[in-house]
Amino acid sequence: MLSLLQLIPLLPFAAAATYPLVDSHKGETFLDGFKTPSSVYDNTTSGDVFWAAKGNSSVMYLNDAGRYVLKVDNTSFVPYNEKRFAPSLLTERTYPVGSVFVMDAVHMPYGCSVWPAFWTQGAAWPAGGEIDIMEGVNGQTANQIALHTDSDGCYASQDAQMTGQLRLDNCSVTSNGGSGCTVGDPNTNSYGADFAAAGGGVYVAEYATDGIRVWFKSRADVPKEMTGDAQSLDTSILGTPTANYPSSTCDIGKYFADQILTITITLCGAWAGTQSVLEATCPPLVGTNTCYTTYVINDASETYKNAYFELNYINIYSTAVEPSTTNSSSGSASGSASGAATGGGAKTTSTAGARRALDMPIRLGWAAGLTAVLGGALAFIL
Ligand SMILES: *[C@@H]1O[C@H](CO)[C@@H](O)[C@H](O)[C@H]1NC(C)=O
Ligand SMILES: *[C@@H]1O[C@H](CO)[C@@H](O)[C@H](O)[C@H]1NC(C)=O
Ligand SMILES: *[C@@H]1O[C@H](CO)[C@@H](O)[C@H](O)[C@H]1NC(C)=O
Ligand SMILES: *[C@@H]1O[C@H](CO)[C@@H](O)[C@H](O)[C@H]1NC(C)=O
Ligand SMILES: *[C@@H]1O[C@H](CO)[C@@H](O)[C@H](O)[C@H]1NC(C)=O
Repeated sequence: MLSLLQLIPLLPFAAAATYPLVDSHKGETFLDGFKTPSSVYDNTTSGDVFWAAKGNSSVMYLNDAGRYVLKVDNTSFVPYNEKRFAPSLLTERTYPVGSVFVMDAVHMPYGCSVWPAFWTQGAAWPAGGEIDIMEGVNGQTANQIALHTDSDGCYASQDAQMTGQLRLDNCSVTSNGGSGCTVGDPNTNSYGADFAAAGGGVYVAEYATDGIRVWFKSRADVPKEMTGDAQSLDTSILGTPTANYPSSTCDIGKYFADQILTITITLCGAWAGTQSVLEATCPPLVGTNTCYTTYVINDASETYKNAYFELNYINIYSTAVEPSTTNSSSGSASGSASGAATGGGAKTTSTAGARRALDMPIRLGWAAGLTAVLGGALAFIL
């Protein structure tokens, strides 16, 4: 009975490679569906920032190119004992297994003391797991991908096909000082100055029952099908993942709950601010100075001139939830192409209806229903 139950979650998503668009953050409506952390302090990574309020135009705004900028405040003089304002946005919705997260950026934050991340987390973090899609610190020159789980038992597989390099395989938050199971992208255009020099690129994370996969595509390699307006995403066009965590060594349903998509820039803190980590890619600290006193306080316009995301879009595709609005494409379009958006909107509405019919049993009573059916069948057979 137990082994049959364990098989149940594999059924609905194992073959799903095409995901419909459910939420799109871009242009003037970029912030719709995002919230900011409940605390103004960075309580998860102990960074030296105050999280700015949603819409604070010092650190989040639409630029002249029509891209959304999320940046560290580089205009304020910050006195000692104060922190510097920075952005952290979390989706109001949570996304179940069967979802794909996409970020298209032309620039990402970098520099000494800077710690950006595009990641997902369970609502009761660290319970419910964490997927670090794009993350790094200081003068690091390539991206590192990681999973974190609240308990032991989830591992990265040595045998998984991927282009990245497996560094640590134990995903438990209490192993290796909380590093998670990590995969390094060998491409320097995946992070920092080289990312921007190559025109940026696209990060994709597929959160599926049969595994978690992350791809990075530098601008020249982004499939032409992938645009902010694309109404669906077929992950089979992406080829070999950069990082690949198959369910054979990590039971996704057991270690991961519905995920909140999060985009953050913090400063110093538990990883970037650790002296040995900081000094590995930035100048040695002088005397009794810390990451905080060296970089965060006083005038820091130069220090943080590259501490920003410049985003074409963040899209979420999913077979497991419906679009936020019944006409999601018109809800997300930034005033452009209203004629095209109307057609797309109507189409989305009808597919949403079809998906509702399919997904309701899965989301609300599917497992219980099938368990009852299987239980009944088993009782009958026995
Ligand atoms: C968050 O961190 C601040 C400063 O370290 C602290 O005062 C506050 O109590 C913390 N809040 C929570 C909810 O832990
Ligand atoms: C907005 O950001 C500025 C920093 O540029 C800060 O001084 C201000 O207090 C912030 N306001 C809110 C409400 O976050
Ligand atoms: C993985 O980390 C956990 C937590 O620290 C530990 O209990 C477990 O033994 C580790 N697994 C291996 C194979 O070392
Ligand atoms: C502050 O940051 C912005 C980008 O976010 C940059 O354009 C500007 O040049 C920076 N200011 C200074 C004085 O370096
Ligand atoms: C959805 O479509 C209706 C009718 O076309 C329109 O009035 C409404 O504003 C749209 N909603 C969004 C969120 O775009």
